[in-house]
Amino acid sequence: MKSDILTRDLKYVWHPYTQAKTATLPVPIVRGEGVYLYTEDGRRLLDGISSWWVNIHGHSHPRLNDALYRQASILEHVVFAGFTHRPAVELAERLIELLPKGITRVFYSDNGSTAVEVALKMAYQYWKNRGQTRRTFLAMEYAYHGDTFGAMASSARSVFTAAFEELLFHCERVSPPYCYRCPLGLERSSCKIDCLELLENKLRETAGECAAVIVEPMVQGAGGMIIWPAEYLASVRRLCDKYDVLLIADEVFTGFGRTGKMFACEHASISPDIICLSKALTGGYLPLAVTATTEAVYEAFYSDDRRRTFFHGHSYTANPLSCAVALESLAIFQDEAVLERVGQLETRFKKNFSSLIDLPRVGEVRIIGALAVVELVEDKASKKAAGYLDNIGTKITAAALERGLLLRPLGNVLYFLPPYVITEQEVDYVAEQIYEILRSL
Ligand SMILES: Cc1ncc(COP(=O)(O)O)c(C=O)c1O
Repeated sequence: MKSDILTRDLKYVWHPYTQAKTATLPVPIVRGEGVYLYTEDGRRLLDGISSWWVNIHGHSHPRLNDALYRQASILEHVVFAGFTHRPAVELAERLIELLPKGITRVFYSDNGSTAVEVALKMAYQYWKNRGQTRRTFLAMEYAYHGDTFGAMASSARSVFTAAFEELLFHCERVSPPYCYRCPLGLERSSCKIDCLELLENKLRETAGECAAVIVEPMVQGAGGMIIWPAEYLASVRRLCDKYDVLLIADEVFTGFGRTGKMFACEHASISPDIICLSKALTGGYLPLAVTATTEAVYEAFYSDDRRRTFFHGHSYTANPLSCAVALESLAIFQDEAVLERVGQLETRFKKNFSSLIDLPRVGEVRIIGALAVVELVEDKASKKAAGYLDNIGTKITAAALERGLLLRPLGNVLYFLPPYVITEQEVDYVAEQIYEILRSL
């Protein structure tokens, strides 16, 4: 029997990415604590996807709850044009301390897609304000940058963007270092990151026309959890300098420790010109995003001429509640040695998940930080797979739910990315469940 909340949901609510006609019914959740979510019908689910990659310190964290409550009793919101407030200023200061060197200015918005929209508009207008019209962006195959129009345009063409194809502005595109499916068809043993040549060729062709290169540093998330060699990322920076284009690092997913470093750019010791942050910025509590940039970009907008203004903003820009919780989340990083914890999880993941490769349908296992990825194939030799619409993902979700585990594969790409507070015993448990599920496929 359907519960009251479910009946009302089905009558009035439209869920994201969901074909209501064929989807399984949504599961009513009544409470969250640590790595667990509690269902209305009394089950406990281990959150293996950190509630859409946002939660890092666990659900309903006492310190974050407290920070939210304290801020709510002082100031819940105020317009951010012409006004400012302590949480926004302190968060900007703290982020600048933590972000790669050279990033000095913080522009707030409220979700990952808007962080990217802001970055694209900022890069485009940066050149305009300097007297150049640069119409092209260079983006990656398999990229995912969000669902608003600019974010879709820079994302790879997929089932997500198909309906809007004619409305999306053109981006030049290159193949990323997806080593399991090498764009040049090379064996890994002979790889010298030759695919960089594809990027350099494209930059050469579009020199003077290209405003920015946009990348998801180290891990391309929704496009298949593709993990890059750090050398590739380092060379992207080098080539952007060589061809005088801005580098936008979309760290909406990778930011705040997920890859084992505070920001994924640190793996290659690079600083982008513009960086996009959201998701785990507030520890998974509230919508908030940041597009941070360098003094050089900021200065191109700093002028007596009002037409050079960056005319962009949102009602909830720099919401004080979100900023206060984000500050507390960063304090937890410091007080509780969170990055060390992620390092330990990476070791445990390697120990537990690597052997999945022996299963017949597992093509590759990839691990970085607190992220384990299993790419499933129909046949190991041909690496054939059906991609995002592969039914195998829905089957795995259903099987995992029966075992008290929340997983949401991207089609044939199964991934596990829990809040960092997960214990090693819980990791062991999850690995066993995943092994059993994959064995029974
Ligand atoms: C790299 C990246 N950029 C942008 C976004 C969009 O973020 P949001 O869903 O908050 O709009 C996502 C979401 O998954 C993402 O992974």
